Amino acid sequence: MGLFSHKEAIRLPSRDIHNHLLPGVDDGFRHKGSSLEAIRRLADNGCRELVLTPHKNPEIYNTDEAFLRERFAAFVQEVPAEWGVKMALAAEYMIVPGFEARAADPELLTYEDGSILIEMSYYYRSENLERTVFELALAGRKPILAHPERYIYMAETLHDFNRLADQGCRFQMNWMSLTGTYGEGSLRILRYLLENDMYSFICTDLHTVQQLGSILSIRLDRKLLRAVDKVLSTY
Ligand SMILES: [Fe+2]
Repeated sequence: MGLFSHKEAIRLPSRDIHNHLLPGVDDGFRHKGSSLEAIRRLADNGCRELVLTPHKNPEIYNTDEAFLRERFAAFVQEVPAEWGVKMALAAEYMIVPGFEARAADPELLTYEDGSILIEMSYYYRSENLERTVFELALAGRKPILAHPERYIYMAETLHDFNRLADQGCRFQMNWMSLTGTYGEGSLRILRYLLENDMYSFICTDLHTVQQLGSILSIRLDRKLLRAVDKVLSTY
């Protein structure tokens, strides 16, 4: 019996709503070929409903929603129909100063149900986080905060997540965060949100084919796997 014999493999859910599979538009997949390879592997692993979420950050990427819609429409044609993969487009919006002013903008790339994926820098908290969540909720767009466990500057103020949840914000975990690769502060946030049933989604946030290999080789102990399955059972 090896030390890790009690660990078990994860199983991807049938739907991934956060990834950078749309090639050539952000720091995710650069080329069509590697993106198609990843989509094929995801499908082989039971993940056949993909919502592509390119970064939308006007401070870094000069891409507007119309451009992303065009690129997505062209890319979808490249995915062989026999793979049986359902694809949709949303986006991952960086909470930059003033973003809340766009809360009701009909151009925003949201999920089908009107939810919207938002993120912050890994280094500092957006001053307008609460205001953005409030304005989005008011506009009927349920915000989903991407990988809260990666905002390690929030590890000392865990109750802020409860306030955000009260405002209608949901939380999305990244698979790789479960491995502890982002450090103790990240794990503290992850455990808090998991133990308090505050995660609504677990996603790949996939940027490269290599990352998919890392995700598929994640092994978790039974307790953690049960907590993960509980999140996945809700969608
Ligand atoms: Fe992302």
